This record gives sequence, C-alpha cells and structure tokens, in this order.
Amino acid sequence: MMAPAAQRVVAIDGPAASGKSSVARELARKLGFVYVNSGAMYRAIAWFVLDRGTDFHDAAAVTRLVETARIECDLEGGESRIQIDGVDPASHLRDVRVNEAVSPVSSVPRVRELLGAQMRSYASSHDVVMEGRDIGSVVFPETPYKFYIDASPEVRAKRRAAQGHADQIAMRDQADSSRKTAPLMIAEDAHVIDSSQLSIEGVVGQIVERLRVQGWEAPPPRV
Ligand code: DC
Repeated sequence: MMAPAAQRVVAIDGPAASGKSSVARELARKLGFVYVNSGAMYRAIAWFVLDRGTDFHDAAAVTRLVETARIECDLEGGESRIQIDGVDPASHLRDVRVNEAVSPVSSVPRVRELLGAQMRSYASSHDVVMEGRDIGSVVFPETPYKFYIDASPEVRAKRRAAQGHADQIAMRDQADSSRKTAPLMIAEDAHVIDSSQLSIEGVVGQIVERLRVQGWEAPPPRV
C-alpha cells in the first residue's frame, strides 16, 4: 500500500502533443504549485539507455542498467529536474532517437517503479501539478483532482510539427496505450477536456473552474 501524498496533487494525463505540458506548466504557475513533467523523467532514462549503448528493446538489460544508476530528482525554478549518474540530460530530451526509445523504455516495469517512487516523493513535500500518462490512474489514484487532456489526431500532429520535432506520435500513443504496465488510459474519475479548439488559457480556465466546483478557493491571481 502506498502512503497517501502529503500535499495536493493535480494530475494531468493525455496522449502525446495534446497540449498537456503547456497547460500543466501554466496551471502550476497560476496555483503556485511545483510543476512535474513525468514524461521528461522517462525521456531522461531513455537517453541514458541510449548513451550507455544498451538495447532499448531488451527489457532485462534496461532493468539491469537502471538498477545501478543513480537517479536524482529535484527542483529548479519550481520545475522538476532529473539527473542520472550526475548528468542532467535536459538538452537531449527531444532528440529523435529519444522519441524512438522512450515508449519501449517506459514499458519496463522496473523503470516505472523507480520513477513512480520519485514522482511520489515530490508530492511528499510540495503541492504539485504533475503531467503524464498514468498520474491519475496509477501514480496518484487517491487524488480527487484528475484531468485528461485530449485533442484530435490532426491537431496533435500539427502541434508537434509546429514545434519542429520529428516524432511518430501515433506510434507512441499506440505503444503507450497498449502496454501491459500502467497504459495510457482515462482514469474513471478524471475530468476530460478536448483542447482541439482551445487555447492554453482556455484549458487552464476550465481546470481552475472545475477545481472551484470541487471546493477549491479561487487561486490568487499570479501575473
Ligand atoms: O509526455 P511525453 O510525450 O514527453 O512522454 C514521453 C513518453 O514517456 C511517452 O511516450 C510515454 C512515457 N510516459 C509514461 O509512460 N508515463 C508517464 N507518466 C509519462 C510519460
């Protein structure tokens, strides 16, 4: 049994390029919460696997590698940061090869266990807005504040292309939704928002409104 999170957790899940990172970051800023990007944590492990020349399709080899890695998560400017064996791979996280390796690497149960523990430790000392694929369903099933941000496949492909990244998002979504451990899914009690026709502010506004309905005071305005 996991210990309940000590602080408030707003879980934001959704498929690739649904706009959840921009929304989660802006929401965290507005609420004065810490922003945790769990996808970046999986990307960092994928980068590490590639950097060490380990076959990212070999789950046993990936498990062996992460068992001996020093994974350190902390905060920088109110946002999550991960270092592995003393290296911060932030500038490599959007590399094409990381895009290719991250779904297989994130399907390895031991990787999910290790990173899941780090995610929960953020919430032991901070109120957090955390984005990912299984934050509401697996990492913080107890939080009452769960959102699932979606957008049409066309809009998502356009958004990713506009960021200038080569990323097979349809393939990643298929892999992330069909894996055995903690697949991408809509948690039963999540509030679903289709962001296809909405701006970031529009989505954040809907979330804040929903939190208010759930009994939150209006957050103090932050500019
Ligand atoms: O959010 P993102 O596209 O940067 O995430 C990269 C990959 O990490 C995604 O394809 C699946 C994995 N991931 C995951 O399995 N669970 C999470 N909570 C977050 C990301």
